[in-house]
Amino acid sequence: MAELAADGPRRLTLSHPRGVSEILVGHGLLAAGGGGALEDVAGWCRGRVVFLVTSEVPDRHCGEAARDLLEPAARIETIEVPDGEAAKTLECAGSVWRQMLERGGKRDSRLVTLGGGSVGDLGGFVAAGFLRGIDYVQIPTTLLAQVDASVGGKTGVDLPGGKNTVGAFHHPRFVLADIDSLRSLPSGELRAGLFEVVKMAALLDLDLLALVEESLDRLLSVDADILTPVVAASIAAKLGVVEADLEEGDRRRLLNFGHTLGHAIESEFGYRDLRHGDAVAHGMRFALRLALRRGLDPEFAARLGRMIDRLGPPDLGVVEERRGVHLDVDRLVEAMGRDKKARESGLVWILPAAPGRGEIVADLDPALVRRELGAFLDDSRGPSSGSAR
Ligand code: GLY
Repeated sequence: MAELAADGPRRLTLSHPRGVSEILVGHGLLAAGGGGALEDVAGWCRGRVVFLVTSEVPDRHCGEAARDLLEPAARIETIEVPDGEAAKTLECAGSVWRQMLERGGKRDSRLVTLGGGSVGDLGGFVAAGFLRGIDYVQIPTTLLAQVDASVGGKTGVDLPGGKNTVGAFHHPRFVLADIDSLRSLPSGELRAGLFEVVKMAALLDLDLLALVEESLDRLLSVDADILTPVVAASIAAKLGVVEADLEEGDRRRLLNFGHTLGHAIESEFGYRDLRHGDAVAHGMRFALRLALRRGLDPEFAARLGRMIDRLGPPDLGVVEERRGVHLDVDRLVEAMGRDKKARESGLVWILPAAPGRGEIVADLDPALVRRELGAFLDDSRGPSSGSAR
């Protein structure tokens, strides 16, 4: 068994009407069996049938350690789902439910998700629906899933018309965010996750923003000494919002900075060839343009712009070419209108209002949005891209 990092895992909690989610962040968490920190997880699964919902890549890298951790279970049944967004369909959820029934799933069975945000969203949704709801644990293995998707109880799948259109709030009993699982990620995956960190830090925690800004190179080289506090602080920032607004009545929408346009871009590209975090990066860039129109301090906008540039999301023109898709204003506005964040009254924007503070804006002039979007798309196509016109 590996040694747990000397300073031990960080513990955070989220209280919700059905109990408490305990969140552990650290490196060596899985390999060391938590060094005792995860005894509660062992108790949670002891004597039960545990369904381990995972996909090929995280299973290859972390499956053995996860199964070791769940060893007190009566039986571990692994169910493999596709990697990435392809897992988030009703067909896939139906297939997992059927497999669980066939393999003896009961009301007191447990479910564990092991993987990125898509596996977590699907697995959480399956747990929410199976026999009207069973307990589950999230083991997120990407940065994006650790800092955002695994925490806060949002679960769901996509319909052809929109992302996350069918789902439920269902909080995991534990979230185990092991920094070591990030070591096997392609570097683009880590960068995409860092955009979600920037998103939260910019509107909620300026100390975290400064820490990320000065540590980008260390973060990208998977330095656990810096990733552990950054992941823990990002989760803490998120929890501060979620605790006050568990089911996204209002304040929780602040966590959607960059998502209004980001989701529309992903949808236009058919959820391929551009990672969610990279789409959010482009969405944040566009939100900064709109925020400047509303009086955001230009220096703060430039600072965030520089951070996004340093992390370097893929050029939109290059992705357009690869996908054979031309992003245009009409289609993007239509896609944003279909998104579940839109209201009857129109599009909802999350914009930085001042350093460390965001605002939810539902009354932007549609003509201004269209004009800015046209200019933004032209600016976002670098000289190296031909653009699939
Ligand atoms: N990912 C945004 C939220 O959990 O509300």
